[in-house]
Amino acid sequence: MSEPLIAVEALHKVFRQGFFMRRVTAVKGVSFEVGRGDIFGFLGPNGAGKTTTIKMLTGLIRPTAGRARLFGQEVTNPRARARLGFLPENPYVYPYLTPTEFVELCARLSGMSAGAARDRTRTVLAQLGIAYAADRPVRRLSKGMLQRTGLAAALVADPELLILDEPMSGLDPVGRKEVRDLIVDERKGGRTIFFSTHILNDVETLCDRVSILRRGEVVVSGRLTELLKREVRRTDITLKGASSECLERLSRAGHSVRALGEHVVIEIEGSAKVPDALRLALECGADVTEVLPRHETLEELFVREAIDEGQRSDPPPQ
Ligand SMILES: Nc1ncnc2c1ncn2[C@@H]1O[C@H](COP(=O)(O)OP(=O)(O)O)[C@@H](O)[C@H]1O
Ligand SMILES: [Mg+2]
Repeated sequence: MSEPLIAVEALHKVFRQGFFMRRVTAVKGVSFEVGRGDIFGFLGPNGAGKTTTIKMLTGLIRPTAGRARLFGQEVTNPRARARLGFLPENPYVYPYLTPTEFVELCARLSGMSAGAARDRTRTVLAQLGIAYAADRPVRRLSKGMLQRTGLAAALVADPELLILDEPMSGLDPVGRKEVRDLIVDERKGGRTIFFSTHILNDVETLCDRVSILRRGEVVVSGRLTELLKREVRRTDITLKGASSECLERLSRAGHSVRALGEHVVIEIEGSAKVPDALRLALECGADVTEVLPRHETLEELFVREAIDEGQRSDPPPQ
């Protein structure tokens, strides 16, 4: 394999907080690598340590122990940083600038000529769907527009690697889908994308590889296609026009049935009993409107791997 674009090795971060300098261990031995062309999801609930890891990865804070490298170089090396586009968790955009001025400023700071910065700014603002608001002061923009302005700034210098901290947070479902599409498009254009999110099910069709963080530790990590159990966990058969006699027959045969408005759903564990349920339903004249095999979701994987019985909700780390 060629040199990973991101290599993180046993990163630790201990914060000292308050008058008594209480120790808060935010990150405890996190390791992962991101290869060229990957879409890598850095997942986990709020407070898991994602932002702290990203800050160490981008050289904003120093690790207590361990190391992080970008493009095979120390993260503090300006040459490594020049190849990186970064969207912070809550992007700060100077409120009296317009998106055009802010994004152009970022382009100029990364070394682009005035003409190239102007052209490229226009292109990325159009790509992100904010061309129409490009000349309004940022303080008049919605949260979604701000997030897009931050994304435009991350993209403007045409970086090889994008690091995005919660790029979908604060966006409505349409906005979240647009960011997902943008990530896929940018990868097609040859970029590598590393992003964090606490919304697991939003991204399971998006990532090639994931690391799931919990209380500062990686609890699940690998290729999504290998991590998610392939077999069918449950099959839902939806019926219409099932008589009460029909439902009774199904129940007597050991099937679990649930009313859903004018429909009835038969919930079958796995798929072995599907033919039997279908035969019974058809025999008693019900319409089968849907047979839906359900596979494991990322959220279910997280619960399976990360959360022990009796520990269903996460207290903050010590
Ligand atoms: N500067 C800081 N000082 C003290 N504690 C911090 C600091 N930054 C983060 N933390 C704590 O570290 C833990 C991880 O936070 P964070 O990395 O922001 O998580 P995430 O991004 O996954 O939501 C949290 O418990 C948070 O309160
Ligand atoms: Mg965060």
